[in-house]
Amino acid sequence: MKTFTVSLENRQTEIIIDKSAHFSGLKLNPENSLLVTDDTMCKSAAARSFTEAGITTVVLGSGERFKTLSSIETIAEAAVHKGLDRGAVIIGLGGGVICDMAAFAASVYMRGCGLILVPTSLLAMVDASIGGKSGVDFLERKNLIGSFYPAQKVLIYTDFLLTLSDDEFKSGLAELIKHGFLAGDELLRYIEENRAAITAREPDASIDAVYRSLRVKAEHIEKDFRETGIRAHLNLGHTFGHALETAAGLGKFTHGEAVAWGIYRAMKAGLILGITDLSYAERVETILRDYSYNIDFNDFDSELYLQAISSDKKKKDGKLRFILQHSAGNTEILPLDPAIVEEVIK
Ligand SMILES: NC(=O)c1ccc[n+]([C@@H]2O[C@H](COP(=O)([O-])OP(=O)(O)OC[C@H]3O[C@@H](n4cnc5c(N)ncnc54)[C@H](O)[C@@H]3O)[C@@H](O)[C@H]2O)c1
Repeated sequence: MKTFTVSLENRQTEIIIDKSAHFSGLKLNPENSLLVTDDTMCKSAAARSFTEAGITTVVLGSGERFKTLSSIETIAEAAVHKGLDRGAVIIGLGGGVICDMAAFAASVYMRGCGLILVPTSLLAMVDASIGGKSGVDFLERKNLIGSFYPAQKVLIYTDFLLTLSDDEFKSGLAELIKHGFLAGDELLRYIEENRAAITAREPDASIDAVYRSLRVKAEHIEKDFRETGIRAHLNLGHTFGHALETAAGLGKFTHGEAVAWGIYRAMKAGLILGITDLSYAERVETILRDYSYNIDFNDFDSELYLQAISSDKKKKDGKLRFILQHSAGNTEILPLDPAIVEEVIK
């Protein structure tokens, strides 16, 4: 078991990473707690243990299309019917969609109640459950309505990884590996040397890899909770990747696979600009290939791709800014000439 605390402005998040789920230590008041989960995870033994403890469960549809304001209304209605007060605790048990919605609901119910997250996908473990970003999609815009509201506790149990589909696992793994590129040589070496155990989801390797990766996210968000600077580095590969998700057709690539593809594009762009160390770019490429990411994909309409990338919301002064790297752990945000973008997506 590993534990640590993340401090975000005046809130502390206690993080516990262990193998098998256990909730008896939480000492929840069943009359003032609400479990939020989806129609996949509601069948898990973890969800059952909350029900057996007398905690009411709200079951939402699973997947991004249920990340809506109407799901938040469903949570709020259940909270009102149950008579939850300001001291209530909302528990989110699920992937990133459930974590984002449970957090948003907790941030607005009675202007803020207690929040515990139990992330069950790898993406939610290493990314969505910590950092306080909550929200829902609105008018086809991702995460348009939301808030910053860190959980009091994040309970990570790596046994959940055993039921996760290969695609979802690989999607989260890309974010875990991305933290290695941002952190530096030590974590990268760990990722290189422990590939077999990590991809086999071995318990000790899972705990260790999630812990090491989360520490990197924690460092970035503790320094820059509101994303005015270094937190943006966590978007390495994302601007390129989001446009791929759109141009290739939504659903063709998981989020993480698109991010891996995008990280490789960021390396190529850095090489053209002369800022990325060649041996580092080659190392990144080898890691992504070894972990079986499809970084050569180019079967999409490049016009559509360029259109998608130019509408990315992460613009500053009308210019798209990209996360580029000099070397492992040495990252910089720079605008890119559209001709370079066109060159690296070929
Ligand atoms: N708040 C943040 O900082 C942050 C960061 C990254 C991503 N996100 C958000 O996370 C969401 C994506 O998260 P996701 O990839 O976890 O998607 P998801 O929550 O839709 O989960 C993917 C699928 O896996 C299933 N699942 C989850 N855990 C499982 C398990 N242990 N066993 C079997 N099936 C399981 C879910 O039911 C779902 O069908 C997006 O909405 C994204 O915006 C938020």
